[in-house]
Amino acid sequence: MPHIAILSASVRTGRVSHRVALYLQNYIAEQTMFSTELLDLHHYQFPIFDERLQYQKNPSPQVVEFADKILKADGVIIVTPEYNGGYPASLKNVIDLLYKEWQHKPLAVATCSDGPFGGTQVITSLAFTFWKIGAWLVPGKFQASKIKEAYNENGNPANKEASDKAAAGFLKELTWAMDLNSKK
Ligand SMILES: Cc1cc2nc3c(=O)[nH]c(=O)nc-3n(C[C@H](O)[C@H](O)[C@H](O)COP(=O)(O)O)c2cc1C
Repeated sequence: MPHIAILSASVRTGRVSHRVALYLQNYIAEQTMFSTELLDLHHYQFPIFDERLQYQKNPSPQVVEFADKILKADGVIIVTPEYNGGYPASLKNVIDLLYKEWQHKPLAVATCSDGPFGGTQVITSLAFTFWKIGAWLVPGKFQASKIKEAYNENGNPANKEASDKAAAGFLKELTWAMDLNSKK
């Protein structure tokens, strides 16, 4: 069964984009065609990047575990908020930490804002960074706006039909790339 890791990027106190990560985890589990797990950067609490994992002499077990989970995932969904038009430092922290784990990795990005625009500006800088590191970012979009109104703390959507329709299109793009990658 193909495995999809969902990386929840916000470590902010009182964060709400994590609700979108929970929603996507539930949605994917409901499809029963994939195994899935949440990689929560708030849970990991990684220190600020000081060297790439491949050059660390004594990497922490948490970093090694995280890298292994990204490496073994058939596809990765990044759930990120928009901060000042870009993505959070917590996300840059783990992109730079790894290298081979990101290469040719089918990736989809769900952008989040509690405002009306769904964090759409994040993708400009994030797509460039993932292109530089050699990840395979698919064009599928999942743009979550007004999150506090749209999802409760468990990730249950106020409008399940609309959320599921958006998630289906998003997942279709990711799984297309995952299928192709599995044949290489
Ligand atoms: C430092 C900071 C900068 C923000 N900048 C933007 C922004 O540029 N565009 C936007 O739509 N929302 C912006 N917001 C609102 C966030 O998208 C909103 O707070 C969202 O809930 C953040 O996700 P989080 O709660 O998981 O941290 C900003 C929030 C913070 C804390």
